[in-house]
Amino acid sequence: MTKHIILDTDPGIDDSLAILLALASPEIQLEGLSVVHGNSSTEQGTINALSVLELAKASHISVYKGCDLPLVQPSLLAPETHGAQGIGYAKLSAPQIKPQLQKGSDFLIEKIMSAPKEITLVCIGPLTNVAMAIRQEPRIVENVKEVFIMGGAIRHEGNTTPLAEFNTYVDPHAAHIVFHSGMPITLTPLDVTYQCIFLKDDLNRLLKIDSPITKFISDATRFYMEFHDEYQKIDGCVINDPLTLALTFMPELCDYQELYVDVDLSGGVSMGNVFADFYNMTKKPANMKVALGVRPRDFMELFLERMEKFTLSFA
Ligand code: RIB
Ligand code: CA
Repeated sequence: MTKHIILDTDPGIDDSLAILLALASPEIQLEGLSVVHGNSSTEQGTINALSVLELAKASHISVYKGCDLPLVQPSLLAPETHGAQGIGYAKLSAPQIKPQLQKGSDFLIEKIMSAPKEITLVCIGPLTNVAMAIRQEPRIVENVKEVFIMGGAIRHEGNTTPLAEFNTYVDPHAAHIVFHSGMPITLTPLDVTYQCIFLKDDLNRLLKIDSPITKFISDATRFYMEFHDEYQKIDGCVINDPLTLALTFMPELCDYQELYVDVDLSGGVSMGNVFADFYNMTKKPANMKVALGVRPRDFMELFLERMEKFTLSFA
């Protein structure tokens, strides 16, 4: 069954890989991209989204510019992780296509309300656009089919503070609104994404195919690998967002627990930290499914196979 997906994204190196995986997956019909601040500014992220779509000959996919700032927190971008332009060492020509005039949060509302229980929302950046959409039109909560969120670090260390993951740290207030909205959420935290490391051998496999797409993947992930080596002593790079996208059509890649999950807004050292109530101490009902186990190489094989097939389709 085709999944009609909206990708709310902050492109971003691993976001770009998720966009390519969506385009390479026959199970998915990409209904549009809403761009949010995060890895780079919304302005730059919108350019990156348009450029990656053009690279992949998918200019028909509409792109909507979303919020430029978190709801409450000051802006935090990640040039050290994704590069000044947000796509590492990759250089893409300026996009010929333009974003839509409609705002990102308005697009989310219009699309979800126009197709009740049909839209799968995949959130792979800070949740500002989604929180704004919920506040503007609360009925999207019961009209969205399902929501997949890349965010949080449950039992895993943070990647932005010792406790917090980037997407929920950048806009913890937005995460709080979305987590407690009642939307049918599946959360993909660092607990599983940090087991999905894109290795140099994986990249070399893709580079056997001479293509603008494999060159883009190489130039983008080389920067990302240097970051992971320098800051976290990881050999390779963590591709958080493609795993999150893959779970929309291959949920069996992970094992899940239904849990009550919350995010810390106290403003102290654990600000933006996402935690789960494993022993139901709060007596609150579970508000999401959390991926806590994963088959990493099954995922990586899927990603590589899809990238190879997609790239060869351009040859
Ligand atoms: O913490 C990883 C997440 O933050 C990923 O979605 C990455 O692209 C950044 O947005
Ligand atoms: Ca992202």
